[in-house]
Amino acid sequence: MYNSIQDTLIIGKKVIYLPTCHSTNDIAAEIVHAGLFDEGTIVITDNQVKGRGQRGTEWLANPGENLTFSVILTPHFLPISHQFLLSQTVALAVRDFVGKYVVDTKVKWPNDILANGKKVCGILIENAIQGSKIVSSVAGIGLNVNQILFENPYATSISNETGRQISLQEAFENLVLVIESYYFKLKTADGQDQIRAAYLNHLYGYKKTVRFKYADRTLEGTVDHITPQGKLVLQLLSEPGQIEVGLKEIEWLWD
Ligand code: BTN
Repeated sequence: MYNSIQDTLIIGKKVIYLPTCHSTNDIAAEIVHAGLFDEGTIVITDNQVKGRGQRGTEWLANPGENLTFSVILTPHFLPISHQFLLSQTVALAVRDFVGKYVVDTKVKWPNDILANGKKVCGILIENAIQGSKIVSSVAGIGLNVNQILFENPYATSISNETGRQISLQEAFENLVLVIESYYFKLKTADGQDQIRAAYLNHLYGYKKTVRFKYADRTLEGTVDHITPQGKLVLQLLSEPGQIEVGLKEIEWLWD
């Protein structure tokens, strides 16, 4: 059970708790399409049975052990050319929150969160666009909190990394507080510059050698920068030059 959050101004003032549901992102999208909603409404479940991930993947989380929720936002102030900033904002907020428990916490482009090098959180942001404006956005967050066993050897949870279980309700409230403070930052030009800088600062592979698959080849390189549209620019090591890639063009290699 999750209640509305007391200490925020917008996000989590309305919390829709569903013991079980297919996908909180889908439910949030239905609420948006129905037309009457308050910005900051959150849909949260204990048991998501058809969780969706990036690139059409499935998001699996043991019932009652993790946080699976979606936040409805209306960032009308962001032109679509800057929509990646919202991704960066949510990723940084989650990274900050996980960083309270695990020292080595990074953002892996575009918006995975790593704790001690393993994936602890996935984020799925789905924007509804009209003309050149973002009319609404659903930010779906799957944070592994107390789950101990994972099929995927590169997945982890806060519990796995700290050796202790934490209260999901408390984690939810504290995480939403951080998300709101970052969201307010996103509303100012100065805040946006800070978000871009902090994102690079916490980015996996930023000026460090990483391995990835690109155009059917295994390559090594370092992250050089992110374009305003959110593309990743990598400096190649195995050959001269840089490549600029979108989400579907590159696959990170774990080792
Ligand atoms: C990824 O890493 O591929 C993104 C995973 C996003 C999972 C969350 S869980 C809550 C929300 N509802 C969904 O169906 N997906 C997101």
